Amino acid sequence: SIVAVVLAGGTGTRLYPASRSDRPKQFLSFGGDQSLLAETVERAGFADEVYVLTRPDLADQVREHAPSAAVLTEPEPKDTGPALAYAAHRVREQVGDCTLVCLPSDHHVEGDFAETMTDAAAVAAETDSLVTVGVEPTRPETGYGYVKPGDERQTDAGRTYYPVEKFTEKPDQGAAMRYRHHGYYWNAGMFAWTPDAFLREAADTELAPLVEAMDDGEPERGFDAVDPVSVDYAVMEATENAALVPATFEWDDLGAWDAIERVLDADEDGNVVLGDALTVDAENTVVATDGHVSVVGVDDLVVASYGDRTLVVPKRQAQRVREVVAELEADD
Ligand code: GDD
Ligand code: MG
Repeated sequence: SIVAVVLAGGTGTRLYPASRSDRPKQFLSFGGDQSLLAETVERAGFADEVYVLTRPDLADQVREHAPSAAVLTEPEPKDTGPALAYAAHRVREQVGDCTLVCLPSDHHVEGDFAETMTDAAAVAAETDSLVTVGVEPTRPETGYGYVKPGDERQTDAGRTYYPVEKFTEKPDQGAAMRYRHHGYYWNAGMFAWTPDAFLREAADTELAPLVEAMDDGEPERGFDAVDPVSVDYAVMEATENAALVPATFEWDDLGAWDAIERVLDADEDGNVVLGDALTVDAENTVVATDGHVSVVGVDDLVVASYGDRTLVVPKRQAQRVREVVAELEADD
């Protein structure tokens, strides 16, 4: 069977102030009428069962946004590496043999999702490897993982995949520019694997103490023994047993404010407005608010205003929102 594991434990700091650590972006809606999490759970409908994996303090909000899904709570927030090891262990206990399909809840997807994902699950089961879904790069994005594919292969059942030659998480700008022109794919952050294959590969990485502790029935002790690390750095960069299945759908990660203009329509002056805003003699701005915002005579700005918090940043520097959030957290 196929079990979807929807990841919903991130903080989404780069969409501050809409996204805050106690109400991160997966609970917000960007253009649609449902939250990103609710949309992801709906998209996961191709699976036989759907679990949402989150950190303890977000479990109640997850239940509100995803009433139809089972909720799995990892013992401590330690990023996606430990969380996905925990999910593999728990789902194997509860469901037995199955293929897990891991789905982040901060994505914009359009087109035939179920087909690629069931294909990825089948390739994972047939090849006993860790399968990533690949998207062809359209810009030198440094916020993603990059995958170098080997020569095309077919499974016995005739499914196409590419062995992964190299996986590089969040490269610098120069590498991202080179990769883009050398046939690399973006890692969409969606994975398929059997619990056995994932835990076997994870046991050869820095997650080993966690895998051992879970085998001994002590996941809490295992979480104490590992540092926070994403699955990309911990497992995907380390394993020699990964495969790539190309995506057949349109995809974007709603990482920072500049992503909004890639998924929403702009007006004739290139302004993208989310919420109630007035733009006068402004060009190529992103204006987002839960109140009302007016901008006049400015270009290429992000203005985001939620509750009593307002952010203004040049659009090209949208990634720098991280610096603001780090300062604010240091003041707390
Ligand atoms: N349960 C749980 N626990 N979920 C988490 C945690 C955690 O500690 N941390 C993050 N998540 C969830 C987020 O809510 C999100 O849905 C997903 O895991 C991915 O986390 P991000 O923080 O958004 O990762 P990223 O966008 O920087 O990078 C990943 O996705 C890119 C594509 O979107 C990587 O896999 C990249 O390689 C990939 O290109
Ligand atoms: Mg993301």
